[in-house]
Amino acid sequence: MAIKITGLTPDFAGEVSGIDITQPLTRAQADALEAGMDRYAVLVYNDQRFTDEQQKDFSRNFGALEQTPGGNITKPADRRLDPEMADVSNLGKDHQPLARDDRRRLFNLGNQLWHSDSSFRAIPAKYSLLSGRIVVDDGGNTEFADMRAAYDALDTRTKADIEDLVCEHSLLYSRGTLGFTELSEEEKRMFTPVRQRLVRTHPVTGRKSLYLSSHIGTIIGWPMPEARAFIRDLTEHATQKQFTYVHRWRPFDLVMWDNRTTMHRVRRFDETKVRDMRRTTVAGDSVTAEQLAA
Ligand code: OGA
Ligand code: MN
Repeated sequence: MAIKITGLTPDFAGEVSGIDITQPLTRAQADALEAGMDRYAVLVYNDQRFTDEQQKDFSRNFGALEQTPGGNITKPADRRLDPEMADVSNLGKDHQPLARDDRRRLFNLGNQLWHSDSSFRAIPAKYSLLSGRIVVDDGGNTEFADMRAAYDALDTRTKADIEDLVCEHSLLYSRGTLGFTELSEEEKRMFTPVRQRLVRTHPVTGRKSLYLSSHIGTIIGWPMPEARAFIRDLTEHATQKQFTYVHRWRPFDLVMWDNRTTMHRVRRFDETKVRDMRRTTVAGDSVTAEQLAA
């Protein structure tokens, strides 16, 4: 069985066949998938009936797993999944949909804003791998935008203007956009802003991309309103239809994406229905900008 990757759009998002990723891979197979990621930035696999352990093992082919603490307000005792799995479902520990006014649900609504996973961490994520265990059939699509193509389409002047800009990212900012502002002192400390370059260069392909995310709250050295207006404008540009792929979930799809070169968001759905989505995250290996001393 040979791995085959078919483009879902000409240059962005590919569908992989000819491989069972719930089983151990050879290094050559893992390399072929990584090369597919470098080309397509998003890869889709159908019908992969993962256990959490198999999903973690598959993810480790691409690097060490990122640990989840610091990325959510859910208390360890209330977690449904183990600390290496990000719970992207709408469920509590009892596997029931969270109540409409549940603080955890309201926090997770931030996933409906265009973002890049863990851009709020000093060393942000490499890949995310999202397994749809129970999916909804109405709404709940996940949309992806290609930040390489979005960068390429900027005019020369804008490219020069943004080349060395550094942004501040924090969950305080993305949640603040939704009016989710009631945070404990401990949560505020956990969400201390970090710095990221606005233009990144992919370590393998050398392609430049826009590093945008709803977690951005300002640009270093700019007045905040000017920074936010500009980031909003860039985000509108970068998420135009021609740069996007829309994933409509089937049960047991696995979608993996490169957070260094893409943004994504989930669309709304009836949250009285169960949507059980489980994410593993492959850690990045370096900062994109110098951090403030603690
Ligand atoms: C994520 C995320 C979107 C979704 O897993 O990082 O943003 O479709 N998920 O649930
Ligand atoms: Mn996400």
